[in-house]
Amino acid sequence: MSYSIAIDGPAGAGKSTIAKLIAKKKGYIYIDTGAMYRAMALYFIEAGIGAEEQDKISAAVQDANVTITYENGEQNVWLNGRNVNGLIRTEKVSMMTSLTSANKAVREKLVELQRALAQKENVVMDGRDIGTCVLPNANVKVYLTASSHVRALRRYHELEQKGESCDLVEIEKDIIQRDKQDMSREISPLKQAEDAVPIDSSDMTIEEVADAIIALCK
Ligand code: DC
Repeated sequence: MSYSIAIDGPAGAGKSTIAKLIAKKKGYIYIDTGAMYRAMALYFIEAGIGAEEQDKISAAVQDANVTITYENGEQNVWLNGRNVNGLIRTEKVSMMTSLTSANKAVREKLVELQRALAQKENVVMDGRDIGTCVLPNANVKVYLTASSHVRALRRYHELEQKGESCDLVEIEKDIIQRDKQDMSREISPLKQAEDAVPIDSSDMTIEEVADAIIALCK
């Protein structure tokens, strides 16, 4: 039986960095489910579909084929045969993803893909509904948070390093709005699973958080 670590939490809590580090230390596969929702959102943007056009989104899901491959431990996300790794991290795609990931047809298709991946391999999977919906029997469940200010600062430094101009106040506003959307949607809202261990990463280093999660693995 494969082993699974589920890490849920709001945007910018450090989930992907920490999940990647744990996967490396334990030799597991890291599955970034947000990237799958992002690839799907990119498809809707490129098809000219608006976030409010829920019927069109539901119908278009069947034409958007999202697949995941791994090369040297790195996840590659493919949209209809095109590698979209470099296209899915913009603020525009982030906001569209937060809205279109509330769609039932989108979620059903991607949850199926995520479960199939976790069945084959030992995984560290991060997202919003991993412990509550995708892998309710995960061996370890963590709910990772950090204050919105710390999360905005992390994003700010990330963009600064890439040489992109950005505004800290705007970033924090966007983060708070996305949290609200992710937590208040009808299907699989972001919430802590009853059996998840809460960790606030605001004042912890990446290594400290990763080690705290590894310590939970039996
Ligand atoms: O983790 P992220 O920032 O890449 O996620 C992008 C968006 O996708 C986020 O607004 C919430 C959504 N998402 C989701 O609804 N369920 C998941 N399992 C992962 C992400």
